[in-house]
Amino acid sequence: MSIHIKVENLTKIFGKNPRAALKKLEQNMSKNEILEKTGQTVGVNNVSFEVEKGEIFVIMGLSGSGKSTLIRCLNLLNKPDKGKIFIDGENIVQYNREDLRSFRQNKIAMVFQHFGLFSHKTVKKNVEYGLEIKDISREERSSIANEMLETVGLEGWGDKNPNELSGGMQQRVGLARALANNPDILLMDEPFSALDPLIRRDMQLELLDLQSKLKKTIVFITHDVNEAFKIGDRVAVMKDGEIVQIGTPEEILSNPENTYIRDFVKDIDRTKIMQAKNIMYKPSPLIFIRDGLKVAMNRMSSHGISSVFVVDRERILQGIVTIDDTIEAIKSNKTLKDIIRQDYFTTDEETYVQDLLPQAIETKYPIAVVDEKNKLLGIIVRAAVLSGLVD
Ligand SMILES: Nc1ncnc2c1ncn2[C@@H]1O[C@H](COP(=O)(O)OP(=O)(O)O)[C@@H](O)[C@H]1O
Ligand SMILES: [Mg+2]
Repeated sequence: MSIHIKVENLTKIFGKNPRAALKKLEQNMSKNEILEKTGQTVGVNNVSFEVEKGEIFVIMGLSGSGKSTLIRCLNLLNKPDKGKIFIDGENIVQYNREDLRSFRQNKIAMVFQHFGLFSHKTVKKNVEYGLEIKDISREERSSIANEMLETVGLEGWGDKNPNELSGGMQQRVGLARALANNPDILLMDEPFSALDPLIRRDMQLELLDLQSKLKKTIVFITHDVNEAFKIGDRVAVMKDGEIVQIGTPEEILSNPENTYIRDFVKDIDRTKIMQAKNIMYKPSPLIFIRDGLKVAMNRMSSHGISSVFVVDRERILQGIVTIDDTIEAIKSNKTLKDIIRQDYFTTDEETYVQDLLPQAIETKYPIAVVDEKNKLLGIIVRAAVLSGLVD
């Protein structure tokens, strides 16, 4: 993994006297107090984070928390009052006009909530816009624009006017325009917030689909926690200009930093976020076939469990034995091999808990999490799936 964007102690103040506000921030004065005392608005307050190449980094927060201010610092539409922004190792805050122009034309592009299309230009001309200001030839522009329109599913719509298109389609144009310069970094400021829920869901899935091919570094803003957790590899939660917590959706769900985050995520359907690997236990106890019935019996009774998985030396799963079968087998002089069962469910690490519900309902045993060689990686108890997961 390589770090693509590194933001260090970034602060942005709105108002005529940012210095006064910066000073008050250093004295730990709150955003509200600073507004009252100095009339300055704290947009972003001492924010630091890193984004890896190819990552979808989501910035989530309520309206007014500083999301737009922050993302607009990343292409210097907002000039920070303090802090550094390294992109590919270069501190862009120090860029001169020429550096900045080249940076904006080649490395970074933005998609806006309200699409930001030129209504007097055709769809295709909108997509070509960034190429036009780079003096790229007419033929090449046209061919790139066609390719981009195809990429976003708008082949054949190039000659229309944006206002002839639905909201979802207009945002596809916005995306095609952003992609036309082939930027490494895509900034998306609530790109789907203006769309109907159904369209929005489609667009989310299409973005993920597109990203699996394009592998851009994406900074994506939303105020919707479900959208954040669906799309984000990692999510930063903002409040009053500060980042309160950064983590993967699973990390934030299982370890909310404070009650603010806890409240934020309480309505999330955990089973859609959590994967098998997030709720499995270390596979223990286990037994080998050669351990025999007595050992199996002892392990189960000392751990207070009614079944145990059987593995070989490489921890390849062989089956499961139950305590009832074991007792019966000891009485009737059978071997462990005779009573080994195969009527359990297995899953891989990446399976979403939601998709384990049918098995959890049906099975009598824990669910075995295995890799492609059938090596036992973990054990999921039914209750962890059925309870909709613990907090
Ligand atoms: N151009 C501006 N001038 C003054 N205040 C601004 C400006 N832009 C944003 N703000 C203020 O900065 C804070 C963060 O706003 P914003 O970044 O737009 O939040 P979000 O995108 O999370 O809704 C808010 O208090 C907002 O009022
Ligand atoms: Mg905003």
